[in-house]
Amino acid sequence: MTDDDLIQTAKQLVGEFKTSDDCVAGGVAAALISASGHVYTGVCVDTACSLGFCAEHAAIAEMLKARESEIDTIVAVCGSGIVPPCGRCRELIRQINATNIRTRVIIGPRRVVTLPELLPFRFAADGRSDREPARVTRSVGRRGFVNEWVFVDVRTQDADFIDKLAELSFDAFREHAPDWLPTLDAARQEVRESLEQGRRSLALLDTAQEPIGWAGVIPHSGGRVWEIHPIAVRTADQGKGYGRLLVEQVERLAQSRGVLTLFVGTSDETGATSLYGVNLYENPLSALATLSCRKSHTCEFWLRVGFRIVGVMPDEEGLGKPGIHFAKPVHRKAAPGEA
Ligand SMILES: CC(C)(COP(=O)(O)OP(=O)(O)OC[C@H]1O[C@@H](n2cnc3c(N)ncnc32)[C@H](O)[C@@H]1OP(=O)(O)O)[C@@H](O)C(=O)NCCC(=O)NCCS
Repeated sequence: MTDDDLIQTAKQLVGEFKTSDDCVAGGVAAALISASGHVYTGVCVDTACSLGFCAEHAAIAEMLKARESEIDTIVAVCGSGIVPPCGRCRELIRQINATNIRTRVIIGPRRVVTLPELLPFRFAADGRSDREPARVTRSVGRRGFVNEWVFVDVRTQDADFIDKLAELSFDAFREHAPDWLPTLDAARQEVRESLEQGRRSLALLDTAQEPIGWAGVIPHSGGRVWEIHPIAVRTADQGKGYGRLLVEQVERLAQSRGVLTLFVGTSDETGATSLYGVNLYENPLSALATLSCRKSHTCEFWLRVGFRIVGVMPDEEGLGKPGIHFAKPVHRKAAPGEA
């Protein structure tokens, strides 16, 4: 379900109606999509002596009935417009599940923010007035580094941030795919394209709010397949586990959206693999079965993070420069007829 679909779902419910001389309802309607991909809705209630609750509260209560509490995206509409949640609803979203600091809140047409942007100083029962403490996730990196990071939705960031992602990508791809992003402008264009309707991009930030890496997704086949494109980690931080983190975050997102397959294409423009400079039309399957890397190549990254080779596109990046295709299941149950 896209953001526009979610807005439409809320719009279908909005419309004030009177239930008694003391009560009106339905002036605001809300719709949310939970981490599992289910949609829950609610309408507001207002009574004569200030009783009642917001539409977001009603939608959240509906979600809790299904024993869910993690919200991926939420929106409320009033008339034909979108309304940001009130302060009480912001706290409610945060307090029902700590991971909701990642909740995307639609606050206007094409305007999405994450909860910490609406709630920079959350309520803390023990008196701590920490600023966005939960935005930063602390983990011990697999090589013993202590990493602190947070994911943000790239759509909610400004032009400066987009420039930073462009610079990061330009540097990161220089060695592996120099023809693909030949200039900083090409990299900027790539970031902008990743923000187009229907696509989604997330960035990983360090404690100074600087991007460590980012990944975009392009849905295909009615949303059953998500292509990861592009993905880049800043050169100084490659090999520290951040690429894996980005892929894991994309997988979580894909899972919540009912995606079946993640797909990625990586090219060999530099002769790093045994598929370079080969006429792949002669025997593509045997070339794939015996694929090896002569020097460091992202093929190994994709295999390490659980992807499998599913194909090759001869000459995709020029004569003898193939595109190598990888996929990974997100939801994999036995298909009909499968042993
Ligand atoms: C590809 C990229 C996103 C990987 O991110 P990263 O943070 O460097 O990768 P990680 O540290 O998370 O690596 C995960 C695993 O893959 C391995 N790996 C990563 N890149 C590798 C490479 N080029 N060659 C061999 N192994 C690699 C790591 O050793 C690690 O192995 P482990 O499971 O034994 O720990 C990053 O290197 C990058 O931005 N490269 C330039 C841009 C690019 O090529 N993007 C991908 C286009 S398809």
